[in-house]
Amino acid sequence: MKELLQKRRTIRKFKQQPLTKDQLSEYIDAARLAPSAANMQPLKYVAIASKEMADAMFPLVKWAGYLAPDYDPKEGERPTAYVAVCINTRIRQGGCDMDIGAAVENLILAALSDGVGACWMGSIDRPKIGELLHLPEYLTLSCVVALGYPEEDPKEVAVREDNIRYYLDETDTLCVPKRALTDVLIEIV
Ligand SMILES: Cc1cc2nc3c(=O)[nH]c(=O)nc-3n(C[C@H](O)[C@H](O)[C@H](O)COP(=O)(O)O)c2cc1C
Repeated sequence: MKELLQKRRTIRKFKQQPLTKDQLSEYIDAARLAPSAANMQPLKYVAIASKEMADAMFPLVKWAGYLAPDYDPKEGERPTAYVAVCINTRIRQGGCDMDIGAAVENLILAALSDGVGACWMGSIDRPKIGELLHLPEYLTLSCVVALGYPEEDPKEVAVREDNIRYYLDETDTLCVPKRALTDVLIEIV
């Protein structure tokens, strides 16, 4: 687990080998088991595995804001699958952000343990994705997770001069600045 946590980076370039429905079910099963406030479990998921639907999703999500549009996945690098994460408003109308965070992180780590990379996406066209997936009115789309076998190997680097923007180095490797433990840990009492 420690290794996975250290290794996990957002992936935005993917091999074109598709994911199976069983793989996607397994990752959603991991999300299902996440902690949930009052154990209400208000989240529901739609998985997208077909090339046709993945192609239809692509224009409805936005990639790597600090590097856009240059770092958008090109043809042949795009995600082969997505999971849409929805709030079941029949169970909770909102205030589920922590549940969503826990569930999505479980999903991403389950995928990573299977060799599959992920990009958690909040910059998405919710009305159009809702239409594409025929989401009923009682489901509120929260976010999507783009998935596929990684075709890039981003690395963690130290934050310098408080600059947290990710960037490409001289070898075109995506570098993701992370604040140091000494910056984020106030004290242990
Ligand atoms: C709630 C949330 C929403 C995000 N939305 C997007 C997005 O719309 N597009 C994108 O390319 N990355 C998105 N990301 C990925 C972040 O940019 C990424 O996690 C951050 O740069 C740190 O990189 P790391 O995940 O490799 O540690 C999102 C991440 C989170 C947690």
